[in-house]
Amino acid sequence: METVSVMIPEEDLLARVRAMASQITEDYAGKELKLVCILKGSVFFTTELAKRINLPIRLDFMSVSSYGDETESSGRVRIVKDLDESIRGQHVIVVEDIVDSGRTLAFLLEMLKSRQPESLRLCTLLDKPSRRVTDVKVDYTGFEIPDEFVVGFGLDYAQRYRALPFIGKLSITNEESEEKRSK
Ligand code: IMP
Ligand code: MG
Repeated sequence: METVSVMIPEEDLLARVRAMASQITEDYAGKELKLVCILKGSVFFTTELAKRINLPIRLDFMSVSSYGDETESSGRVRIVKDLDESIRGQHVIVVEDIVDSGRTLAFLLEMLKSRQPESLRLCTLLDKPSRRVTDVKVDYTGFEIPDEFVVGFGLDYAQRYRALPFIGKLSITNEESEEKRSK
């Protein structure tokens, strides 16, 4: 059985998003900004963030999947959907839902850097620093969380739970053992 318990309520998420947007507005004052949303998980975070940044914003979307076995992303990334427009000469922020091992992002950031943006930064809603195996630098972090599997606000488990308005901790319990326990 799967159960989801609230880890970060909606009010806390939106308050933090507002603060991040203010910081970005300040840091990029007088500039135009391109937000690169990494599909699908970052869609909810990107739109909430973009609405609160008080600068001219362009949005673009990219979808990637990492090669490797089921348990470990190898860091070799396949581009499923590339950006629609060039980022050359632009101020770019990559918007992610969560940085885990950091393998996917390390590869992605190198690739985007080779396209010669004026500047390139990384913004993530969630960070699990204890899981990091690369030295990918995060410029804007919403929340650092412990090594738990989380869903909601864009994050999924087998494509489900993305539309939950909060970040929840997913627990999977074995029904057989549940049954035994209740006997
Ligand atoms: P990594 O940093 O290359 O290991 O991969 C990060 C990706 O793994 C994220 O973009 C998510 O799609 C996925 N991921 C990692 N941790 C979680 C989690 O707790 N819930 C849902 N997806 C996760
Ligand atoms: Mg993702």
